[in-house]
Amino acid sequence: MSDKKIIIALDGYSSSGKSTMARRLASKIGYRYIDSGAMYRAVTLYALNNNLIASDGSIDTAKLSAALPSIKIDFKPMPDGSQRTLLNGCDVEDEIRQLRVSDNVSPIAAIKEVRSALTDMQRELGRNKAIVMDGRDIGTTVFPDAELKIFVNASAEMRARRRFLEMTAKGDAVSYEDVLANVVRRDHIDETRQESPLRRADDAIDLDNSAMTIDQQDSWLENIFRETISKL
Ligand code: DC
Repeated sequence: MSDKKIIIALDGYSSSGKSTMARRLASKIGYRYIDSGAMYRAVTLYALNNNLIASDGSIDTAKLSAALPSIKIDFKPMPDGSQRTLLNGCDVEDEIRQLRVSDNVSPIAAIKEVRSALTDMQRELGRNKAIVMDGRDIGTTVFPDAELKIFVNASAEMRARRRFLEMTAKGDAVSYEDVLANVVRRDHIDETRQESPLRRADDAIDLDNSAMTIDQQDSWLENIFRETISKL
């Protein structure tokens, strides 16, 4: 088998389980895992904390764009293969998963300047390959030449259910209806925005995991990875 290192791009809808798949594959094959959505979430948290999002949801795009060079996002790898997101040195991993951030992240991710700054950071992270990155535009915009591209999907209800269970397990007081509304709203914004909309790359392999267990997903992905590598 070739020992060539590749870039693996996993794109798909929110809460489709792609982060779990990506993280588990990376840890199994000794690659670095990057959750690009966490980077958009970190910028959103920065905007919220600096009062750049008004109560009516409007964003001070000029101020946010000017602040981008001073927003530093890092990832701290954990022994279990997961990562903690650091925003200017502070661990914000738990905060960026809260509904306050989820509710505001899609409009922030639609801003051209934000996308351009984060795309640069993502390309830098993939410079030495051996990376699994998940997001919305990894196979289309960030790494159009990625050797392996997967597009993950599952029904909105199934995705909302998963996120709801995840959040309530962490003690967040949310309702299933609110989580579903957030999922549907984000799908719409992500698909219809002008800059790098969520779109399947023409050469991506589709996966609908609505009826799959995590173990089934893992073996499906690992098989595809081994197959891809063996052809290089
Ligand atoms: O995967 P997630 O739900 O944590 O992503 C949060 C938001 O960031 C989501 O609304 C879409 C956006 N995003 C994006 O536009 N491009 C990416 N590569 C990753 C995420």
